Amino acid sequence: MKNNFLKIKRAPSIQGEITVPGDKSISHRSVILAGLSNGTCLITGFLPSEDCLCTVNAMSALGIEIEQPEPTTLIVHGRKRQLTAPKGDIYCGNSGTTMRLMAGLLSTQPFRSRLVGDPSLSKRPMKRIIEPLSKMGAKFTPEGPGNTPPLVIDGCPPQPISYDLPVASAQVKSAILLAGLFAKGKTTVTEPSQSRDHTERMLSYFLVRPQKEGLSVSIYGEQTPESRDFLVPGDISSAAFWLVAAAANPNSHLLVKNVGLNETRTGVLAVLVRMGARVREVIEDVDDGEPRGSIEIKGANLKATVIKGKEIANVIDEIPILAVAAALASGTTIISDAKELRVKETDRLAAIATNLRAMGVPVVEREDGLEITGGAPLKGATLSSFGDHRMAMSGAIAGLFAEGETTIEDVDCIDTSYPGFEQTLTEIIKQSRQRQTPVIASLSKPSPL
Ligand code: S3P
Repeated sequence: MKNNFLKIKRAPSIQGEITVPGDKSISHRSVILAGLSNGTCLITGFLPSEDCLCTVNAMSALGIEIEQPEPTTLIVHGRKRQLTAPKGDIYCGNSGTTMRLMAGLLSTQPFRSRLVGDPSLSKRPMKRIIEPLSKMGAKFTPEGPGNTPPLVIDGCPPQPISYDLPVASAQVKSAILLAGLFAKGKTTVTEPSQSRDHTERMLSYFLVRPQKEGLSVSIYGEQTPESRDFLVPGDISSAAFWLVAAAANPNSHLLVKNVGLNETRTGVLAVLVRMGARVREVIEDVDDGEPRGSIEIKGANLKATVIKGKEIANVIDEIPILAVAAALASGTTIISDAKELRVKETDRLAAIATNLRAMGVPVVEREDGLEITGGAPLKGATLSSFGDHRMAMSGAIAGLFAEGETTIEDVDCIDTSYPGFEQTLTEIIKQSRQRQTPVIASLSKPSPL
């Protein structure tokens, strides 16, 4: 049995070339849209993580036949928007994206369904989807306190709506757009700032044309996506862990290939550039509607920065690892307008503060952010993952820079988004102990795509 902890020691530098597994957000959406399409779609580069497999199981439970000849390949047999009632509860695991996107879909169906999650997902807010989807006609009965899961959904043919999102959320936007696909007429969602636009792009790729106007996106319903094959790019949120590891060491030089470079997701690169890293990104392909390419990064003595306002939605999943960059940078980094982090897989603001303080980093925790004073050597410590994959991986990267040994407890959660992270990390540590350079040569693995 695999250990449920990681032990990390300092690594001298990160050099070489890597690929990362498929994008989590795009993998979820590819299964859903392919399942709604009018034929068979071959999806390659799929992320076979626990979260994305929950979406596969959910779509299968609704009558969509899905074959998985290899972990990263799916053959999805679309049924022209026809879904059948599930035989039991639909288990969404740890995955907010599965629950919220499936809720959008299920709110339009003439049957009852019940979405359940693990203990972390069962604490996450669902009012944000219940409100707009109820306006479209569905009846939601949240069984947890304060509108939390399990969620019982009594769907019905939806009414189109025009809805202003109170917080920028790609999950909520996508839930409404998916429901809008079944409505008679035009459904419009307006966000306060741009969140990731994978749903809109994939709808276009499947020839359902959403209309974009500023921060609003509209969809005309009663359209069936055209079945098409789709290649999922590597996940920039997974690459972010290695990008920060390379950025914070002036001797490091890393190339990440075949990674998604959608500009609603590349904020992490802009932040690292402001902090002093030298970054080059090259888009090599946009064939499937999602830009993909390479990122080259050279490390530096990082300096503090400010991350706030509209930039937050773009780096929403990267704040835990950017907080590690902040701890390694000279000066005080300020992160604000990031209250959303309190309702992620764990309260990430509290979790980051706890773990960085354990490593000797001065951190001030604010209601909507953090002030992190970096530059002093990190001390090895025992850190909790708080059951949150991104906290676990961020702790591991911090450990590569710390004096002594760092232990990360409860790391099974990493499999929700990055199966294979641990092997890559183990290899880096082994190589660095043997003082072999370039360390990353051993990181080069065959592309999962
Ligand atoms: C996601 C959107 C983001 C992000 C999550 C994945 C998606 O959540 O944090 O990891 O795939 O749409 P919000 O939409 O709640 O901000």
